[in-house]
Amino acid sequence: MQRVTDQLDIPVPDDFHLHLRDGELLRAVVAESARWFGRAIVMPNLASPVVTVAQAFAYRERIVRALPANNSFVPLMTLYLTDQMTVAEVKRAGASDVVFGIKLYPAHATTNSAHGVTDVAALDPVLDAMADMGLPLLIHGEKLGPDIDVFDREKVFIKDVLIPLVRRHPQLRVVLEHITTEEGVQFVLDGPETVGGTLTAHHLLLDRNDMFRGGLRPHHYCLPVLKRMEHKRALRRAIRSGHPRLFLGTDSAPHPISAKEASHCCAGLYTAPLALALYAQVFDEEGALKQFGAFASHRGQAFYGLPVNLGRIRLSRQSRPVEVPERVLVAPGVEILPFYPEDGLHWRAERI
Ligand code: DOR
Ligand code: ZN
Repeated sequence: MQRVTDQLDIPVPDDFHLHLRDGELLRAVVAESARWFGRAIVMPNLASPVVTVAQAFAYRERIVRALPANNSFVPLMTLYLTDQMTVAEVKRAGASDVVFGIKLYPAHATTNSAHGVTDVAALDPVLDAMADMGLPLLIHGEKLGPDIDVFDREKVFIKDVLIPLVRRHPQLRVVLEHITTEEGVQFVLDGPETVGGTLTAHHLLLDRNDMFRGGLRPHHYCLPVLKRMEHKRALRRAIRSGHPRLFLGTDSAPHPISAKEASHCCAGLYTAPLALALYAQVFDEEGALKQFGAFASHRGQAFYGLPVNLGRIRLSRQSRPVEVPERVLVAPGVEILPFYPEDGLHWRAERI
């Protein structure tokens, strides 16, 4: 009989897509990411977006100050691309040792994206400068329009915006973040060496049915929105394939419960506390545990030109479901609900 793996040691991973927020929210959430990850690509979509290198420096300082004592977590900062981004700012970003990418949010695609890009092609000189400086473009891949169905936004973006962009900028490294569709997976699989992609734990675990099970579930609402189960299966096939440029990015996106349980619910799942166990459970279900170390701790690092982290994490399968994490208290009356799968979680992570 084949022996089932029930324990796995991997180098400390990095999170290649993370929302840390600011102020009291930052102080409430940063320790969990710093506990499990060595570094993280930190999203710039604050209420007032991070558009300059000086702002990225200042935000990095606030993050470091919010870390627990003696924690060596390294925030890898990003800038928020707007229609006003200049080549000079890109050069400053590329010359800094703080900025690791520039994030493209199509205008109004998601949380705090009102300042996002309205016409990507108009930014070609900026994208050329990014390619010259070796700064990757990190992409929220959704196209919006009055005739575009919300479930088709990723597919349409890839066809109308992303494929032409990669053709125009063959030297520019791009990351299609939080891939949710078969088309997104295929884009990375078919793409040149310059193209990478991240997968979240929640898009691997959930599909759109989970948003409606027994009633509308605001805590399962994220963007890009959960898709049909066939797409979730395509994402799971992709992790089995062991593709060298598909890697871990949680898109952990905390919102206060009051903002989730609202008439206009905010998009985002707070997955950071259990992220590694959530991924391990999916890789286990897919019989792909031997791929997990590469997915979490090697491939993204290679894509971004970062060394593998030194510490190690042990993941182990549990005979009973692990306990549901407590709500996170941000301030009196303000709490965040960490994601926990309804069918239970049978993996545990620990630093060794
Ligand atoms: O679900 C999401 N939440 N998707 C995003 O693109 C943004 C994020 C957030 O900032 O809340
Ligand atoms: Zn995100």
